Amino acid sequence: MITAVHVHDQHVGQAPDAFRDDVIAGLRASPKALSPKHFYDARGSRLFEAICAQPEYYLTRTEEGILAAAADEIAALVGPDTLLVELGSGASRKVRRLLEALRPSRYLGVDISRDFLLQSTRRLAADYPWLEVHAAWGDFSAGVRLPPSLAERRAVAFFPGSSIGNFTPAEAEAFLARLRRALPTGSGVLIGVDLVKERDRLEAAYNDAAGVTAAFNLNLLSRMRRELGAEVDLEAFDHRAVFHEAASRIEMHLVSRRRQAIVIEERRFAFEAGETLHTENSCKYRLEDFQALAARAGYRSGAVWLDDQALFSVHYLVDR
Ligand code: AVJ
Repeated sequence: MITAVHVHDQHVGQAPDAFRDDVIAGLRASPKALSPKHFYDARGSRLFEAICAQPEYYLTRTEEGILAAAADEIAALVGPDTLLVELGSGASRKVRRLLEALRPSRYLGVDISRDFLLQSTRRLAADYPWLEVHAAWGDFSAGVRLPPSLAERRAVAFFPGSSIGNFTPAEAEAFLARLRRALPTGSGVLIGVDLVKERDRLEAAYNDAAGVTAAFNLNLLSRMRRELGAEVDLEAFDHRAVFHEAASRIEMHLVSRRRQAIVIEERRFAFEAGETLHTENSCKYRLEDFQALAARAGYRSGAVWLDDQALFSVHYLVDR
């Protein structure tokens, strides 16, 4: 059977090809920092899938359990015949249970990794012949714009995995407010949010014993080498992930083991021994703090589901 995915190559978000400029700006900055969206080249997207399967990384497993248990309730709240928009669709694995319960008429996957996006939406189209499948390659972090042909009916944005945690709370609020304005009236958001818990549990999730998260973090440096011809000694950087309680977030860094430089296009970016490149924030919320944030963005809480250990939360937010 021939299954077609409708590809929207006019970008739904920002053009996703800013890696070079972002790297140079980020290495020039003080402190040095790079957006976590750049983790997700094809190799990084695969490494992220492997992180999700690590025993310490409770997020994916827990969220999938919550979604499976709540699927029928979610379907009743959302109603039939909607457009389901998945932000950061990646392997589009979590959405399957949801598609089966919700039976939306259309699905739009948005992802920054083009190959990954096309591959996984093609698979969805093959597995769900009743579903109209759309794919938009783009960076949605700067905002989402629906392709005009999809903008007329009610939508549900699915933003799983606690990816919202990559934003600071102020950025998350602005992002949700913008998302609300970008979707047709009456639309909702189904969003996964990781919760604050003991430091050991949090830090273990970002320091798995198999070293997959370290490889994911270090992949940024190999990506610089592959795509920008950067001169960089991968052996001379360490992965670091620490919970910062005051900011309620895991911070990931690449730590320079010694005094050295990364060289890109004849530009030298000097590192002191111990100096870091900040690669990710992963904010953790208290339930009521996230609900207050969503309210400030113009949403009311339609429903919220937790696992029995209250590790993770899934929220259905509606326009108020
Ligand atoms: C995809 C942003 C939710 O912060 O837990 C996993 C990415 N980074 N391990 C997270 C990630 C390191 C993940 N998010």
